[in-house]
Amino acid sequence: MTAEPATRIVKADAQAIRAAARCLADGGLVAFPTETVYGLGADAGNGQAVARLYDAKGRPAFNPLISHVSDAAAARRLGRLDADAARLAEAFWPGPLTLVLPRMPDCPVAELATAGLDTIAIRVPDHPVARDLLAAFGAPVVAPSANRSGHVSPTTAQHVLADLRGRIDLIVDGGPAPVGVESTIVACLDAPVLLRPGGLARAEIERVLGRALAERAVEATASEEGEAPLAPGQLASHYAPRTRLRLDARDVNAGEALLAFGPALPAGAERAARVLNLSSRSDLIEAAANLFSHLRALDACGAAAIAVMPVPHEGLGEAINDRLQRAAAPREVR
Ligand code: TXA
Ligand code: MG
Repeated sequence: MTAEPATRIVKADAQAIRAAARCLADGGLVAFPTETVYGLGADAGNGQAVARLYDAKGRPAFNPLISHVSDAAAARRLGRLDADAARLAEAFWPGPLTLVLPRMPDCPVAELATAGLDTIAIRVPDHPVARDLLAAFGAPVVAPSANRSGHVSPTTAQHVLADLRGRIDLIVDGGPAPVGVESTIVACLDAPVLLRPGGLARAEIERVLGRALAERAVEATASEEGEAPLAPGQLASHYAPRTRLRLDARDVNAGEALLAFGPALPAGAERAARVLNLSSRSDLIEAAANLFSHLRALDACGAAAIAVMPVPHEGLGEAINDRLQRAAAPREVR
C-alpha cells in the first residue's frame, strides 16, 4: 500500500458498510463509530494491516489493541472467560466494556495486535454501524481510538479526518459517538481489576460481580493520555523472551540465533542456530508484523543468545527498536 492513501469519508449506509468490510479484507484501515469513540479498524488477523495501523497512528511503541467482535460466542474463540468475565459479558455486552482475558492458544489475532502478550482485550461494541460492520466483515477487528498518538479520542468523523486524513483509507460517518469516552477496561485474569475507568460505571460492574473491583496495582505509565500500556503489577507488562538478545549485531557468534533485517546477512550467519528475517526487503511494516512471532520462534530454538541486526530508526522502526530494547533489558522483577 502507498504511504499516503486518499482518505474517503462516507455516510454510514448499507453500501458504506459493504465498502468498509471489503477495505478491511484488503488490509485497509477504516475508521468507524462505536458508542464510545470512533475506532480505527484493521483486520485483527492480518499482521501487516495491524502494522500499518500503528504506523498511521504514529505510535512510538506497540501498545496492545482491543479486538472487537460481534458477540460473546466470537469473544470465546479469542479469550478464556472465567465465571466473573462471563457474568460481566452477559450483563454488559454489547456495550462500553472491554475485558482483558487469557488469550486462547489458537486465537487468530495477530501477535502484533496483542503486543506479544498472552492476554487479549476484547469488546463487543453497541453501535449499529460498528455491529453492522463486524457482521459484514465476519472476523475480529482491532480498533484503537482513531486519533493520532498523543491526541484525544475522536467522537466525530470530522475529528478523525482532522487527525488521520491521508493516513487511512476510509471513514464511515455515523454521527457523534453517543457515550463520548472510551470503554471501561476490566482484567479478568484472576480477581477482576479495573484497568481503565470509562463509559461503564464502576458501581454497575460491582453490582453484577457482587463485590468491589480490585484497584490497578500501579499507575499506567502516562506517556500519552488514554494510550499508556495498562500494566498493573500482576499483569505481564510486556512480552519478553527468555533468551538473551544481543542488539545491533554485525556478526553472529557460535551458538547464537539470528534475527535478521534486510537482504544482506552479517558475517557468521551460516553458523547461526536458526535465522529468521524480519523483512528481507527492508520493509518496516513487514518487519513489525513479524516481530513478535519471530522473537517467539527464536526464543524456542534453544540458542545461547539471539543476535539482532540493526533496524533503522524511522517510521515503525522506532516502535520496533523500543520493543527490542525492552526485550534485551535485564528481566524485571514481576
Ligand atoms: O472505547 C474504546 O475502548 C475504544 C473504541 C474504539 O473501542 N478503543 C480504545 O482503544 O480506546 P485504545 O487502543 O485507544 O485503548 C485500549 C487500551 C490501551 O491503553 C491498551 O494498553 C489497553 O487497552 N490494552 C489492550 N490490550 C491489553 C492487555 N492485554 N492488557 C492490558 N491492557 C491492554
Ligand atoms: Mg486511545
